[in-house]
Amino acid sequence: MAEVGSASSAVVSVAPRSSILTIEGLRVTFGGVVAVDELSFEIADGTAVGLIGPNGAGKSTALKAIGGEVKPTSGAIVFDGVDTTGRPTHTRARHGLIRTFQLGGEFARLTVMENLLVAVPGMRGRSIWGALAGRRWWGADQASEVRRARAVLSRLDLLDKEDSYASELSGGQRKLVEIGRALMARPKMLLLDEPMAGVNRSLARHIEDALNNLRHEGLTLLLVEHELGSVERLCDRVIVMAQGRQIADGDMGQLRSRREVLDAYLGG
Ligand SMILES: Nc1ncnc2c1ncn2[C@@H]1O[C@H](COP(=O)(O)OP(=O)(O)OP(=O)(O)O)[C@@H](O)[C@H]1O
Ligand SMILES: [Mg+2]
Repeated sequence: MAEVGSASSAVVSVAPRSSILTIEGLRVTFGGVVAVDELSFEIADGTAVGLIGPNGAGKSTALKAIGGEVKPTSGAIVFDGVDTTGRPTHTRARHGLIRTFQLGGEFARLTVMENLLVAVPGMRGRSIWGALAGRRWWGADQASEVRRARAVLSRLDLLDKEDSYASELSGGQRKLVEIGRALMARPKMLLLDEPMAGVNRSLARHIEDALNNLRHEGLTLLLVEHELGSVERLCDRVIVMAQGRQIADGDMGQLRSRREVLDAYLGG
């Protein structure tokens, strides 16, 4: 990367990428189990960061703590200049920190379009469910969200599924809808837990491409994923966890040659 923000760059000055997320001494315990142990890192705005490690390393718990579903035992989480530690998920979402969620049972009965619309903050109330009961009776204020949802579906290559019920989709298509729902909340940063798990190879590649496009448009990504090829292609930087702790941080090429990483994870 070019030197940015240095004193010598008097003519063209490129601002260094500021941190959008700062984790400081994050610790999460469940009874006697220390799931996340003194995790500290920063994520620069507009970058894609992978979080990898063996089963039970604490990756999902860390992501949930960052997203606000799990309360940290100690430590601080600052997102976009706001201390969100202990704040509920919706507070973070309002600031643009969004975690993707597996489509629950209730969403199977909705169409893809409906799934995206109910994910818009402020459209969760009676009005949207009323509108959904009438299916096609979108109100004027919903029309712009419908247009936005179509744009999201188009970029995910799902436009032809707009009227399909979520229950009719393949596993990979459902994952794309989960990403689409997150995008409807206008995120600055997406938290994704194994977005390609259990998906066939071509759809996994499709999901990867979609995430790559979003990243190139400036969305910040924090991605937990076991498929290391995707992590390597997608992520600027990778953090390795084992037994709740961060054991390495670097690009995938560097990490592959680190002894402690090989021992914990990559060697098998
Ligand atoms: N709700 C919970 N209650 C009790 N223990 C939990 C809970 N959630 C996670 N744990 C424990 O915390 C540790 C970390 O789990 P976590 O799910 O974060 O790991 P992970 O890195 O996401 O693993 P995987 O790769 O298998 O998804 C594990 O020992 C797990 O059993
Ligand atoms: Mg997990």
